Amino acid sequence: MHSENWWRSAVIYQVYIRSFADGDGDGLGDIAGLRSRLGHIASLGVDAIWINPWYPSPMADAGYDVIDYRDVEPRFGTLADAEALVTEAHEHGLRVLLDIVPNHTSDRHPWFAEALATGPASAARERYMFRPGRGESGELAPNDWVSTFGGPAWTRVVEPDGQPGEWYLHLFAPEQPDVNWEHADVRGDFADTLRFWFDRGVDGFRIDVAHSLIKEPGLPDVGDLVYPRKYVEVDGEFVLPPWSPHPHWDRDEVHEVYREWRAIADSYSPPRVFVAEAWVDEPERLSHYLRPDELHTAFNFGYLVAPWSGPEMRKTIDETLAEHGTVGAPPTWVLSNHDVVRHLSRYARAEQIPGRHRLRELLDMPYDLAVGERRARAALLLTLGLPGGAYVYQGEELGLPEVEDLPDEVLQDPTWERSGHTDRGRDGCRVPIPWSGDAPPYGFTTAATTWLPQPEDWAPLTVATESGDPASMLELYRQALHLRRATKELGDGPMAWRTEAGEDVLAFDRGEGFACVVNTGSTPVPLPAGATVLLASGDLTADGGLPGDTAVWLKP
Ligand code: NOJ
Repeated sequence: MHSENWWRSAVIYQVYIRSFADGDGDGLGDIAGLRSRLGHIASLGVDAIWINPWYPSPMADAGYDVIDYRDVEPRFGTLADAEALVTEAHEHGLRVLLDIVPNHTSDRHPWFAEALATGPASAARERYMFRPGRGESGELAPNDWVSTFGGPAWTRVVEPDGQPGEWYLHLFAPEQPDVNWEHADVRGDFADTLRFWFDRGVDGFRIDVAHSLIKEPGLPDVGDLVYPRKYVEVDGEFVLPPWSPHPHWDRDEVHEVYREWRAIADSYSPPRVFVAEAWVDEPERLSHYLRPDELHTAFNFGYLVAPWSGPEMRKTIDETLAEHGTVGAPPTWVLSNHDVVRHLSRYARAEQIPGRHRLRELLDMPYDLAVGERRARAALLLTLGLPGGAYVYQGEELGLPEVEDLPDEVLQDPTWERSGHTDRGRDGCRVPIPWSGDAPPYGFTTAATTWLPQPEDWAPLTVATESGDPASMLELYRQALHLRRATKELGDGPMAWRTEAGEDVLAFDRGEGFACVVNTGSTPVPLPAGATVLLASGDLTADGGLPGDTAVWLKP
């Protein structure tokens, strides 16, 4: 906890604040709810929390559309509540990371309002990405870029004179206009925001779409370039097409921004830290963000999108270790977050295909949640056994599945509307978590309903039910996290594969005193002779073998 290098080994719990706990009885999670439940997080044995955006926002994209980066959304609380939360988290031994959203603001941000009001060629427009349209009267979007949520990445504005006019860029929803990172106001303002929260004791930031800020001059068409790349099947193997530069993702100039940010973080005592959310699917490109004068860590999405398969997981682990090693950065291991189908439900699919993490890619595939649960338990021991840090997304410690059958009328993710109701989006992993009781709202709120409805069959998955049950997912998390903390070989440091075990088995040593063996196949395998089992994700066979979809931590 006291070491400046805490982040190299940290396990960080992601608090999706809207769905963690509601303190004011409106059915939406908030800071008061989080403060009242910090004990749950601390008792897990994690080192820090990352809180999704809590700033004033019209919530066109669940808070990733920010009006004021240096205040708190009234539905979540006040700035004083935020300050109290930071203090109390620290008292619980938890560091606090916030979420900064530098690629875009809300369309209700005062800067954008000014840009609309002042018209074409005004100084205020320079802070965003306004362009004239193509076509005879500017009726066509400036280029072919598409929004991540579906549809064009450009929206045409009505000018102050009432006429249709320029277009502005939004790589996400139209309510999230991209800012212009070539502009000094933008750079200066985000630097001020970092300092504002660092001055209040915040320990670091998760950086939203960290790879998107800089766009290629001239904004050329994307053409048929797909990003992130899609796996294609070649001779029975899934491979990614070769990497090539893209006009708006992962431009080299973005690194200048992070060098500036690193200098700000390093000017504090203790130094503050960053984790990049950068869906950069080329491990070598990702490592650029982690050079010693840039960001400390980045989410390792290659691991997240790997299917439950020994060879595939081993491949991504090896690539990650090799590329992070070139810049001396510790990997992070992530299985779930608020943007992807919960891993228990991904691993439950009968067929395991690389890269599939969106509901639209998985919805039609048959699944068995009991299988998903076994694999999720085993995946936890793998994740926490690997070198570096790890993330836990709220609710995974309860074994929550994705809620795949939310009724159409409750869906809130902008993807649902923007895709013309073809992509149900990310709401299924954002359902409020169950704390206690037999029926919704399971102690989440005193309101009758929650902002997204909870399933009727979650009574066995509440914190209260699982606490003290040695067979529960929650107790496995608690045991594994506490053991990890007590085991000096775990966290940052070297690992060595054991190769004798067969391709379905991931077996590795962490120093001389610790080994992890994960059987991703279906046939039991013998455990190394003479080893003591410290923790197992499931029962061993009668003769002490390791069944399929099961993992153990061992003292060799
Ligand atoms: C990534 C965030 O995790 C996601 O939830 C959000 O929609 C986009 N960035 C846009 O800010």
